[in-house]
Amino acid sequence: MDRYAVIGNPIAHSLSPAIHARFAAQSGERIEYAALLAPIGGFGAAARAFFEGGGRGANVTLPFKVDAFGIADVASDRARVAGAANFLARRDGRLEADNTDGAGLVTDLRANLGVDLRGARILLVGAGGAARGVLGPLLAAGPASLVIANRGVEKALDLAARFRGAAVVEACALDAIPARDFDLVINATSASTKGEPLALPETVWRARPLAYDMAYGANAEGFVAAARGRGVRATDGLGMLVEQAAESYLLWRGHRPATAEVIAALRAGRA
Ligand code: ATR
Repeated sequence: MDRYAVIGNPIAHSLSPAIHARFAAQSGERIEYAALLAPIGGFGAAARAFFEGGGRGANVTLPFKVDAFGIADVASDRARVAGAANFLARRDGRLEADNTDGAGLVTDLRANLGVDLRGARILLVGAGGAARGVLGPLLAAGPASLVIANRGVEKALDLAARFRGAAVVEACALDAIPARDFDLVINATSASTKGEPLALPETVWRARPLAYDMAYGANAEGFVAAARGRGVRATDGLGMLVEQAAESYLLWRGHRPATAEVIAALRAGRA
């Protein structure tokens, strides 16, 4: 049986094993997909032990995505741009890194939520690892403008500078977001996860953008509720989670599983 795993810390509540079990069941494939807890500072050893023990592929979650990029023998362009990997595969004895988070977000927005990203005016809030992981694929989707707003403006400026060639990217501080119309507001901060409020100027909601939190479930509740309170459509990132998993499954196994039924099942399970 082909063996896969998601490696993180904490990991007990990861939905990835359930998602991949559903993908495999669709096509009658027999795979094993486990949740592995690696100690902080011990990701490299845990990952190497998994692959030396015959593991075919691993997803990597917080806080190890930068470490995963670091231990790979080869990395895809999108992992290099992100400086982080959520995907590892062993092929011909070499460890390959990729990053499927951005593709997962873009697919969820386009295919599941019907968002037309070409020409869209995007506000990306946050400039940490989560934001960096999705910026390349978001820009590749052809938005008209993309403003990166972060509490600490330096980090937003640094992130924007990585995409110097992209004329549509701007950076600003959270309290200096331009009073413009946005079509899409993405929360890539860890504020809700930490139970902290995310203070955004009211003008952000003026054009009734879709509000999207890259976290899911309880970790997205603060942002989603605040946006809905302003009368705008808002969603968490459960669809992104499933779509990044589908992209990983495709890279490992050569075909893309159906995602809508898996997203629906997870939402029903939660409710
Ligand atoms: P992640 O990998 O989840 O992105 P990170 O790299 O630590 O984690 O980045 C966390 C992001 O959330 C940063 O953009 C951070 O802003 P700062 O760089 O100014 O710290 C943002 N963030 C965390 N708590 C926040 C809060 N209460 N309000 C606004 N932004 C917050």
